[in-house]
Amino acid sequence: MSTTGVAAGAVGVEPHVFHLSSVRDFHDQRAEVLATLEREDVALLRGLVEPSVVREALARIASSFSRANDSLVDHKSHAVAPRDVPNYQRLMLGEHGEGEKNRALCMRIFHNPSWNEDEWGLHEVFRTMTQVRNAVYDVEPNYCLDGPDGDVYTLFRVHHYPAGGGFLGAHRDGVAASVPERAGLQGYVQALLVMSEKGADFEAGGGYYYKDGRRVLYEEFSRPGDILLYNGQTLHGVQTVDPYTPIDLDSAAGRYSASVTLYRVYRREMSMG
Ligand SMILES: [Fe+2]
Repeated sequence: MSTTGVAAGAVGVEPHVFHLSSVRDFHDQRAEVLATLEREDVALLRGLVEPSVVREALARIASSFSRANDSLVDHKSHAVAPRDVPNYQRLMLGEHGEGEKNRALCMRIFHNPSWNEDEWGLHEVFRTMTQVRNAVYDVEPNYCLDGPDGDVYTLFRVHHYPAGGGFLGAHRDGVAASVPERAGLQGYVQALLVMSEKGADFEAGGGYYYKDGRRVLYEEFSRPGDILLYNGQTLHGVQTVDPYTPIDLDSAAGRYSASVTLYRVYRREMSMG
């Protein structure tokens, strides 16, 4: 199956897998998960999300997909209040940001906040991910779960890396990591839902992190429904998905993942004095 430089089953680079049946289990194993994250920069949670729910969501995304829905406007950047953020999809091609914040990418993002229509039946999954994230931060289970907390909100998102060129350059989450800190939370963690199956949904490339200087394509080890935790130190990205397939931006084919990132609306009012 592997078409990459990392052999399946390679010792010492694959993420440690925690088998869980509920968020309650996560609380019981929290200390061990955090120790693993501290030591290895990644941890994989298995059993919290039914693979069938993920597969059903991917089928719904594919059946309703239209390139015509790609928005040129990044609505979250213009929202005055979190609840202004609509469901929208946006194709991002090229490079964005400057200096340390520069990102080179080819991906499509489907934004699906908790207060909007649950288009693909993923909101329960996103809620589980959010509760896990909150448990890592050691804050209330419902923090930014059903809606914003002031300026801060959880943005449910699905990431689509099109077959034939979808990728995300290696980076650490500096921008996203600044939000929890400013919201008074300790540290930074990202919970990423593995949605696609390598060898079935795509053949080459996929999500990776670096471990001991080696690029680890984690979909060599993961299954749809797994939740990958990583932190602000984790160098990660997405290796070009199926680079020898002609790209078709009208197609929903490719590699998918999802996240529950904390965002903060940009305050435009002038401060006094
Ligand atoms: Fe990232």
